[in-house]
Amino acid sequence: MPKPPALGSLLRLFMRRVERRTARVGVIGLGYTGLPLATEFAKAGYRVTGFEIDEKRVGELNRGRSYIQDVPTREVRDLVRKGTLRATASFDELRRMDAIDICVPTPLRKTKDPDVSHILAAVGEIAPRLRRGQLIVLESTTYPGTTEELLRPLLEERGFSCGKDFFLAFSPERVDPGNPTYHTRNIAKVVGGVTGDCTRAAVALYATVMDKVVPVSSSQIAEMVKLLENTFRSVNIGLVNEIALLSDKLGLDVWEVIDAAATKPFGFMPFYPGPGLGGHCIPIDPFYLSWKAKQSGFEARFIELAGQVNGQMPYHVAGRVREALNARRLAITHPCSRRRVQARYQRRARISGTGPDRDPGQGGRARRLLRPVRAVAHVWRSTAAVEALQRGNAALSGLRRDHHTAPGIRFPSRRTPRAVHR
Ligand SMILES: NC(=O)c1ccc[n+]([C@@H]2O[C@H](COP(=O)([O-])OP(=O)(O)OC[C@H]3O[C@@H](n4cnc5c(N)ncnc54)[C@H](O)[C@@H]3O)[C@@H](O)[C@H]2O)c1
Repeated sequence: MPKPPALGSLLRLFMRRVERRTARVGVIGLGYTGLPLATEFAKAGYRVTGFEIDEKRVGELNRGRSYIQDVPTREVRDLVRKGTLRATASFDELRRMDAIDICVPTPLRKTKDPDVSHILAAVGEIAPRLRRGQLIVLESTTYPGTTEELLRPLLEERGFSCGKDFFLAFSPERVDPGNPTYHTRNIAKVVGGVTGDCTRAAVALYATVMDKVVPVSSSQIAEMVKLLENTFRSVNIGLVNEIALLSDKLGLDVWEVIDAAATKPFGFMPFYPGPGLGGHCIPIDPFYLSWKAKQSGFEARFIELAGQVNGQMPYHVAGRVREALNARRLAITHPCSRRRVQARYQRRARISGTGPDRDPGQGGRARRLLRPVRAVAHVWRSTAAVEALQRGNAALSGLRRDHHTAPGIRFPSRRTPRAVHR
């Protein structure tokens, strides 16, 4: 039996493949984070295979169509035609990959505990097909310790040794869907390997695709970086939400306060109050950290408090909207409002409250009638929230549910909530 190559030679071989772009890259989970990442690797010259359990997405991608807003169909079509990007639901091909990125969802259980079942399922597909010299990178947001404590033992089950036979790292996905300035490529990539060579392998790969790579000393540090970023946002949004509630009591316009405070050129960063926290990361990720804190006998008070304050905001804003509608003698179930808003959502149009009305005859009246509803729709950009709002009392429970789960929720723009908060 030939002697297996020493550690150094496996790493050298991996790096040579990366340099020459002959390394084959696999991305497990082709969603908001996985598809942009896969296309970046393909654009850099790698042959990329996406592994996806949703057969519809596999079919769309192989037909050269994008289903993610940030990835233009034209780009996908060109890469698929060139043969550098394809998708499959068959995990056997994992064996042929030199690098595998895991981009699967990490939701919360009803109890607000981490649900890492998708990560476990992905690793369950890799482990029996693992071969020497492969690099595995977890990109899904998770609690510190997941890569080392959960993934490593599963991947070593067949006798391989991490850092010796294969490389394992964590690199947080920091993409901000819809952001016109920052994309997968120009957001600095933080990378932490389980061993020094794991970090080196991952850095070598990402350096060929990202504008800037930031190596850190361990996978745990990299995991914590992402949770700090999102906890920072959640806590600051919680703070500004509390200031909004207080300003309401004091009869002050919180938007004017924030705008004026934001003129300070240092030491202040504006956050804006509202019913949602943006996407499905900020309301979820901090709970991964507080869960881990509890496991270590530590109470993460800021996280819990921010969760409570932010959780109250949908109720508050729904109340303000209802007041606004009442003040205009508008029923929330006004047939005109309901029909128009729903019709617009069915066409997936963005409701701005300022766009041209489709019915010129009724334009002025409809615009007046719809103004508050449009404002709300704009804030939440979510059919479920708008429908819940239209159902009057049901709005509260509807908004609450939506607040935690609807991916369409965005933190409100500065202009619109002025309409809501008057
Ligand atoms: N969406 C964001 O803005 C964002 C930003 C930063 C980080 N993240 C994190 O990135 C991770 C992925 O999130 P996302 O938004 O890309 O999720 P997503 O739901 O958009 O996509 C995940 C994809 O993975 C697929 N999938 C699930 N289990 C699978 C499996 N076992 N094998 C293969 N495919 C599987 C799903 O079908 C789906 O297409 C999460 O941990 C999330 O917290 C998301």
